Amino acid sequence: MVDGSGSILKNIHVLTAIVSFTLFFIRGMWVMKGSVMMQQKWVKIVPHINDTVLLGTAIALTISIGQYPFVDAWLTVKLLALVAYICLGIEALRLAKSDIGRAAAWLAALVVFLFIVSVALTKEPFGFLLFLK
Ligand code: HEM
Repeated sequence: MVDGSGSILKNIHVLTAIVSFTLFFIRGMWVMKGSVMMQQKWVKIVPHINDTVLLGTAIALTISIGQYPFVDAWLTVKLLALVAYICLGIEALRLAKSDIGRAAAWLAALVVFLFIVSVALTKEPFGFLLFLK
């Protein structure tokens, strides 16, 4: 149960990844529509709690399978892509000054997220970009 394959830890990791994607997707739509939903208290809190659990389980999983960023390439890529996802997300939800800039950052963040999933599933640093290799 703690070897990283089909473990509770991995199930929580995958579940929080799905919740992270869903909440980011919806918040992007709300920001672009200028929806009052963005002012809701839970909308400001729940994504952070979820993403903290996602990162916590990520760290626990690296330890449980004995593979680490800056040692194993696929995890280095995953970590760096996560940083890109966070930066693009901040741009999309907070910093962008124009609608087109916001939409571009939001779309780019969604693509980066799917890339992270493809790296996770293949354990290949190139993920779905494998054809570039
Ligand atoms: C948005 C961020 C992330 C997403 C969407 C994500 C997604 C996933 C998914 C879908 C799996 C399951 C793969 C499978 O079924 O075999 C997984 C497993 C895993 N992830 Fe993540 N992950 C994220 C961030 C991270 C980070 C930052 C790390 C560590 C640097 C990490 C480390 C791991 C490890 C060690 C496993 C277990 C692999 C195994 O069981 O062999 N994840 N991740």
